[in-house]
Amino acid sequence: MRHQAQTLRRLAAVRQARSAEGQGCRVVAVTSGKGGVGKTNVAGNLAVALTQRGLRVLVVDGDLGMADLNLVYGIAPRLTLLDVLAGRCTISEVLARGPAGVYVLPACAASFRMANLSDTELQQMWAAIAQLEGAFDIMVIDTGAGIGATSMTFAAAADQPVLVVTPEPSSIADGYAVAKVLSSRLGVKRLWVLPNQVSSAREAHHTFRRLATLVGRFLDLSLVQLGHVPMDQAVAAAVRAGRPFQLDAPDGPAARGLRGVAQRLCSDSSTQARSGMVLFFHRCIEMHGGAV
Ligand SMILES: Nc1ncnc2c1ncn2[C@@H]1O[C@H](COP(=O)(O)OP(=O)(O)O)[C@@H](O)[C@H]1O
Ligand SMILES: [Mg+2]
Repeated sequence: MRHQAQTLRRLAAVRQARSAEGQGCRVVAVTSGKGGVGKTNVAGNLAVALTQRGLRVLVVDGDLGMADLNLVYGIAPRLTLLDVLAGRCTISEVLARGPAGVYVLPACAASFRMANLSDTELQQMWAAIAQLEGAFDIMVIDTGAGIGATSMTFAAAADQPVLVVTPEPSSIADGYAVAKVLSSRLGVKRLWVLPNQVSSAREAHHTFRRLATLVGRFLDLSLVQLGHVPMDQAVAAAVRAGRPFQLDAPDGPAARGLRGVAQRLCSDSSTQARSGMVLFFHRCIEMHGGAV
């Protein structure tokens, strides 16, 4: 508790110091009910598409311990967020350069330790990341699948929680579980839904409608469809080549779909909230207890 108060005070001080620097960065958290639906590919390639639109983009591997983002980008970072926690380096030293000028905060591959950080360690890490306020226009977080406390906290605290779903019934059912936790436990009022691996715009809309019907019946939550990403063989081929499909197959359906998503994120008036990293992590610390 004492540590939490200290961290909140430190974040408040950073916020005061940075408030003169203008509008804060926008925070987008990419989440899903089920694993394997394409969250990491969406987060990594969305970050590339946003960079191509001229934004300064930071993508954070929030699926600590799995670090699949490194595979999507084909990078093998020397330092990770664990080194910051261990006091071996600063947060700026961990910032890795990804493709197309994206900046990445990498996690550790196959790290049990990283996947099981204490609340105090998580808060230390969040306070460290918040020091990057002012350097980026948008932060995209690839969260872990499911209704774990940390993923739900990121989604609830973000300016835009994005739920990736596929047409599979289990993905929709697990997506509903995420919507339920976000709405009834954490007070989220709006959730952006991104159908992935769909065969057509019609199937995307149908997938969205199935989730929206369930949500409309039981929850006080508004859903917004954020375009869609078609099923595309170029996705797996790009991962094998260690290059994001946005660069490897820019004219393919998945890349075009995600550029549409990036455009919507930049232009839609319902997606303009920019609370900044400090306020975001402040909210994370306050909510994390409530999510458990
Ligand atoms: N739009 C898509 N078309 C085809 N395959 C996809 C698409 N999106 C994701 N995939 C495949 O789905 C698998 C899981 O993707 P990944 O991004 O690792 O999911 P998650 O992060 O949700 O676990 C990968 O093999 C990836 O190649
Ligand atoms: Mg993943």
